[in-house]
Amino acid sequence: MPEFHVSVLAQQLCDAVAPAIDAHPDGVVVDATCGAGGHTHAILQRSRPARVILLDQDPAALAHAKARLAGAPCPLEFRHARFSTLGAVLDDLNIPQIAALIADIGVSSHQLDTGGRGFSFREDAPLDMRMDPTAGPTAAQVLENIEVGELADLLRRYGEEPEARRVAAAIVAARPTTTGALASVVENAMSGRARRLLGKRIHPATRTFQALRIFVNRELDELDALLEHGPQRLCVGGRMAVISFHSLEDRRVKRRFTELTRAPELPRGLPMTAAELPRARFAIPAGFPRRGAQADQAELDSNPRSRSARLRVIERVMP
Ligand SMILES: C[S@@+](CC[C@H](N)C(=O)[O-])C[C@H]1O[C@@H](n2cnc3c(N)ncnc32)[C@H](O)[C@@H]1O
Repeated sequence: MPEFHVSVLAQQLCDAVAPAIDAHPDGVVVDATCGAGGHTHAILQRSRPARVILLDQDPAALAHAKARLAGAPCPLEFRHARFSTLGAVLDDLNIPQIAALIADIGVSSHQLDTGGRGFSFREDAPLDMRMDPTAGPTAAQVLENIEVGELADLLRRYGEEPEARRVAAAIVAARPTTTGALASVVENAMSGRARRLLGKRIHPATRTFQALRIFVNRELDELDALLEHGPQRLCVGGRMAVISFHSLEDRRVKRRFTELTRAPELPRGLPMTAAELPRARFAIPAGFPRRGAQADQAELDSNPRSRSARLRVIERVMP
């Protein structure tokens, strides 16, 4: 049986949050993307938080992680929840502040590799693509009613598909309901030039699948909610670490972290000494790469999925 999910950048992530956990022996860690529980497992090998709250919108991931992490050295709380409900989950648990928040954005290998979940064109299956199979419309239901213009816009925005209009028109004409049917509609719709540009290693439907998945799961809105709320919950000295897998996500993480780590601007010429100038409440931890951390050669060799992963970290330095 293939592994449920191999965690990426686990060492770098543990190193990044360890000082925050070590400095707060009563501190709570939130793992916002529980998945197979791999990152929490790695953290527990290295640090001793008082408690870990694990969120996932996929009940299958939570069940797997619960079994894997049984016997953990500290209390664990598993919640079937989305990023956008993080505040409500913490309020419900009476946790005003946390020492660390980790998030490893996107789909797990288990979700991608389970044919029946409808994320991949490698196996023909109903076009589902929901990370949370208990809620919201499936990708097939989205395609049932969507108009060409709206679909083209979505393919452009979330898939960066250069032939968005042409692909959208073909999809709307066929309204496919399985992964195999969608993949062949897209492949047949694309111009020979576009297919040649992609080369042999990238399937012509890759960008369409990515765009639909992002739309079905509201991935960017969810990420924005996490980036908005997560930092507010950190205690002083607390850290937030986010791993993203493509530029649409990383751009958002970078923008938000830059905004948080920039000192508030004041009108020029105010009579203030350097010490009186307001400072930003967040900072990139000393020694952590400003452009984020990426996989080293050993990890790239053992887990090709790590190629596009980038870890960014901020620390709360002022109340
Ligand atoms: C890449 S996997 C995490 C793997 C995990 N870090 C590990 O090491 O095993 C991402 C997980 O996050 C979950 N997820 C993605 N977006 C989410 C959201 N908005 N709210 C809650 N869970 C989400 C997915 O269901 C998936 O299980």
